[in-house]
Amino acid sequence: MDESDYSGTLFTESELKARVKELGAQITEDYKGKEPFVICVLKGASVFYADLIREINLPIEIDFIAIASYGNSSVSSGEVKLVKDINKPLVGRDVILVEDIVDSGRSFTYMKELLGARHPASLKFCACFDKPSRRKVPFEADYIGFEVPDEFLVGYGLDYDQKYRNLKDVKILAPHVYMK
Ligand code: IMP
Ligand code: MG
Repeated sequence: MDESDYSGTLFTESELKARVKELGAQITEDYKGKEPFVICVLKGASVFYADLIREINLPIEIDFIAIASYGNSSVSSGEVKLVKDINKPLVGRDVILVEDIVDSGRSFTYMKELLGARHPASLKFCACFDKPSRRKVPFEADYIGFEVPDEFLVGYGLDYDQKYRNLKDVKILAPHVYMK
């Protein structure tokens, strides 16, 4: 983890903070009078999620789900599997699923089918980042922090080979790191 691993900084800590505050305010407004069940998709969304829920001024309930789609490479295998489920029924709940990034769209599509079948009152999708140019299946999230170019990003929860998640900024991983 040194500066030569990155080819640039895409978002600084303060830019991230400002946008997350806006997203939280928007969710607070949209869910006024409700008690949304805000679910974090582990592990990538964990950092964004911890910031986001503290910007939502409503009586929310939290839980965590874990899926896996990437191995050690920067290219998705295309397969998604459930690693950890949530602990409660979703019947009648207003559910917001929080992800790190929408890339191919396969992860959200998988969870939409999985959780949608449990009869929530509503089901919405929030992602910190969106890479629309990479979509393999059509998917549009309801809340997006930032649209990003087709680069491999690390930091603020995003990893490469399980590393870099703890960077405060979002950086572009230099190709020499994942080409080796
Ligand atoms: P999907 O392709 O939309 O299913 O996204 C699957 C997952 O790929 C995301 O939740 C991330 O964990 C990971 N991912 C996609 N793009 C990046 C990236 O630029 N950096 C780190 N992880 C990524
Ligand atoms: Mg990941």
